[in-house]
Amino acid sequence: MCGIIGIIASQGNIVDELYRGLKLLEYRGYDSAGMAVVRDGELLIIKDKGMIEEIHRRYNFLSLEGSVGIAHTRWATHGAPDKVNAHPHTDCTETIAVVHNGIIENYLELKEELMKSGHVFRSRTDTEVVPHLIEEYMRSGLPFKDAFIKAVRRLRGAYAIAAISANSPDKIMCARAESPLVLGIGNGRGYCSSDIPSLVAFTDSVLPLGEGEYAVITPDSVSIRRISDDSPVRRRFKKVSMSVEEAKKEGYPHYMLKEIHEQPYTIKYALELQRNYLDLMSSFIDRASRLFFVAAGTSYHAGMVGSYVFSKLARVVGFPVIASEFVSHYGESVSVDDAVLAISQSGETRDVLWAVEYAKARGATVLAIVNVLASTLTRIARVYLHQQSGPEIGVAATKTYTGQLASLYLLALTLARNRGKLGQDELDHFLQELYRTPGVVREVLGQVEEDTKRVAKLLKDARYVIFLGRGVNTATAHEGRLKLMEISYIPSLSYPAGENKHGPISLVEKGVPVVALVQDDETKKYMLSNIHEVRTRGAKTIVISSSGDEEVSEVADILIEVPRVDPLFTPITYVVPLQLIAYYTAVLRGLDPDKPRNLAKSVTVI
Ligand code: AGP
Repeated sequence: MCGIIGIIASQGNIVDELYRGLKLLEYRGYDSAGMAVVRDGELLIIKDKGMIEEIHRRYNFLSLEGSVGIAHTRWATHGAPDKVNAHPHTDCTETIAVVHNGIIENYLELKEELMKSGHVFRSRTDTEVVPHLIEEYMRSGLPFKDAFIKAVRRLRGAYAIAAISANSPDKIMCARAESPLVLGIGNGRGYCSSDIPSLVAFTDSVLPLGEGEYAVITPDSVSIRRISDDSPVRRRFKKVSMSVEEAKKEGYPHYMLKEIHEQPYTIKYALELQRNYLDLMSSFIDRASRLFFVAAGTSYHAGMVGSYVFSKLARVVGFPVIASEFVSHYGESVSVDDAVLAISQSGETRDVLWAVEYAKARGATVLAIVNVLASTLTRIARVYLHQQSGPEIGVAATKTYTGQLASLYLLALTLARNRGKLGQDELDHFLQELYRTPGVVREVLGQVEEDTKRVAKLLKDARYVIFLGRGVNTATAHEGRLKLMEISYIPSLSYPAGENKHGPISLVEKGVPVVALVQDDETKKYMLSNIHEVRTRGAKTIVISSSGDEEVSEVADILIEVPRVDPLFTPITYVVPLQLIAYYTAVLRGLDPDKPRNLAKSVTVI
């Protein structure tokens, strides 16, 4: 996620504080940074690609001077990470500067309208439409504050914005829709920031800006109104007494739990993929004679789900292949007629890069789903989708997994539509179900926490745990196993439930916990019988199923019910309880879920 911060004082130089605040935003992950201040009626800007320290060494942020300023760390969503796309962005007169966190969905139409009015754009970002909109309204005679409000009313999508004007150095204007923004006051200064950690260093008096609100910040006051009707908002400042480290987790004990709870937002962001990239990728897949989903770890499980849904929705056969096995398995046969869809949140996994470089050298078309723009994989791929999950600090993948799934479902439905494999009614149904998933995940998070803590108590001393799934949730069983194993260190197994009788069931004895996933599709009756098989042999059955399914409750020692979605989309909703089970089990075992032993966030070695 991008990070924004703004500071205003009645006099003196705030650059040192602004620089410290910018550094406190680093943990959010970024690829470029910048700062703008007003001095004697002039806007001064330093910005570039790279880490804050690197940019500081190049340009010396502290050479700037002014009593009002804004700064930004950018996690690229639109436009590659480079100097011209770094924030702050300015208008044509270079007297208005804006920083932004979020995604402006209607930026293309606004950009077109502004270009027709003569505005010259320098970057490829969505953000840059904001300063030009403000400039346009100031040209028509509005003062900076009113021009800002009118501009914000044109925006659709998610945004947290702060803006300053060289001609109005007495205020910072800010506004938010979905993306968080927190205000602060103290020491003769007014503050705004994406999050509390970068404010607790300066003041303990903070005030979250509400959804659909804007604020006028001066050195000694904050005035909040609703964007829609300008009605005043009365809200009291809160006293916060937390360390910067605690604040970075936004009150959660670990990043992993914070990121599990971010999923209603991050799944929604993934579903805002650009239609043109989906269509382009779909055309390459449609032309290919074979499609391989190549990935490692959790991302491989996403590829497994992708393989199911591409087949079910688009009638496209895609082979999920573990990246480190790709060359030895398919090296001799991969050819110019093949397409490889690499799935990698880091875009740096060495196994994946090795596989795609090999495939590309033999003429295959390399496509990718990534979370980190400018990663190596984005430079190898012919087309890539950016899942927009934001930086994932916890080593165990959670929000990036459901972000990958959402991207794969959207791609599968795009393929199905373009290939004419689904009728309009079916397409509408599946799209509606997919776009419901962020809200359903929010409900799941509100309902299952206590159940998952109960399961964690059952698992924490287990010698081993078995995960079973069928059909589209076979991959979910594998993911639940990996999550539990990698952060709680409990040996875990997972396999398609139909394989039970072919060997693994010999492991089932009294008290062995078996986690089973039941979705209401053609696999259900077989899954119920597999659960019955292990139960009669003494297993403790923990069953995750869609709410209201009476048959399931009869075979579950612990039943975790999840709000219903079309069974095809249960990999997104069912994995959330599994993530929480793994998290709480690790915590009960006195382990740090954010930093599991022997593991790295990105495996850049073979
Ligand atoms: C996930 O919990 C693991 N940390 C790991 O398996 C990870 O998914 C794998 O290393 C792939 O990473 P990538 O998505 O960055 O390629």
